[in-house]
Amino acid sequence: MPVITNIDDLKKIYRRRVPRMFYDYAESGSWSEQTFRDNVSDFAEIRLRQRIARDMTGRSVATQMIGQDVAMPVALAPVGLTGMQNADGEIKAARAAEKFGVPFTLSTMSICSIEDVAQHTTKPFWFQIYTLNDDDFNAKIINRAKAAGCSALVITVDLQILGQRHKDLKNGLSAPPKFTIPTMLNLATKWAWGLEMLGTKRRFFGNIVGHVEGVDDPTSLSAWTAQKFDHALDWGKIAKLRDMWGGKVILKGILDAEDAEHAVGVGADAIVVSNHGGRQLDGALSSIRMLPEIVAAVGERTEVWMDGGIRSGQDVLKAVALGAKGTMIGRAFVYGLGAMGEKGVTTALDVIRKELDTSMALCGERDIAAVGRHNVLLPKGFLGAYS
Ligand SMILES: Cc1cc2nc3c(=O)[nH]c(=O)nc-3n(C[C@H](O)[C@H](O)[C@H](O)COP(=O)(O)O)c2cc1C
Repeated sequence: MPVITNIDDLKKIYRRRVPRMFYDYAESGSWSEQTFRDNVSDFAEIRLRQRIARDMTGRSVATQMIGQDVAMPVALAPVGLTGMQNADGEIKAARAAEKFGVPFTLSTMSICSIEDVAQHTTKPFWFQIYTLNDDDFNAKIINRAKAAGCSALVITVDLQILGQRHKDLKNGLSAPPKFTIPTMLNLATKWAWGLEMLGTKRRFFGNIVGHVEGVDDPTSLSAWTAQKFDHALDWGKIAKLRDMWGGKVILKGILDAEDAEHAVGVGADAIVVSNHGGRQLDGALSSIRMLPEIVAAVGERTEVWMDGGIRSGQDVLKAVALGAKGTMIGRAFVYGLGAMGEKGVTTALDVIRKELDTSMALCGERDIAAVGRHNVLLPKGFLGAYS
């Protein structure tokens, strides 16, 4: 058993274990992948301020996100096709999250359905919805999420149209994979993944296939989604989704202070400063660089969280220091899941919590609530470098 000390260790195992098509699906950004890379490299530009001879006993990284107790300010982000990274992946990730004490968000584009995840977990999870132009589908899926006891709706607002990811086109990404010669050759080397996949019946988009008339295979699904993304989205329609839900709402995919104002206007309980992990607008600034401006604009009126590029507890600490009340992780938990299933997600969360806790101590803080701008050092021009 390899000694796993950081998220990159999990990524290496993940890469060996999971078919190329699904590794590439996660490990890619849109077009030139500049924003995807910046999300990570901008974190690396930020430094932590070391303090000494400060009492570091009785530390806590526990806090709340939208009034919910969390073991640390980290939630699992919605990730489509998680059940292709590891058989029954959404159920495994949700279980790891609930045991650890952090929220799990189920993507609309999941393999395991809302009902299936609810049946295999004991605590409420969050459900993510896209802004689709189909009121009937929206109402049905929102009602299903309510019936399953989901405790918050994450509305993804940065995907009215899909950013192009070259690798997915080249690999012919689909769930389940289509059996082309290159795919078969690659699958032949991923027998552990394949055996587990053969052992589950969950291999399609569980929230959609069987719930939408005429959608019963990958081809009809991609045609359906392409048609349904609402190119004419406006804030009134976002407010309508909020009303249909009637509970806590998180708007994910805000990268601009003006949009953040609108989000407050529709009563978002939290917003996630996000560029979809660099998968949408290539050339957009990294989330961590946009965070302080958005916190300054609306941080008093709603909870501002961020995601994109978090690969360590130090990254979480930096985000919190720059004003995030919470964070979400996507790839960091996917690496763990692909590498070792539920145990891998737990390991990813453990790694991040230990890094966060120890680094917070070395910054001279005992409570995550006290972490702030004074704990980080920014290079000159980091803020306001772009105008
Ligand atoms: C493979 C993959 C699939 C994703 N699928 C969804 C999705 O279905 N819905 C959504 O709102 N965001 C989706 N995202 C974006 C994530 O929720 C999150 O914003 C992003 O992963 C954060 O960046 P990080 O991976 O660097 O942590 C996806 C991201 C990845 C990597």
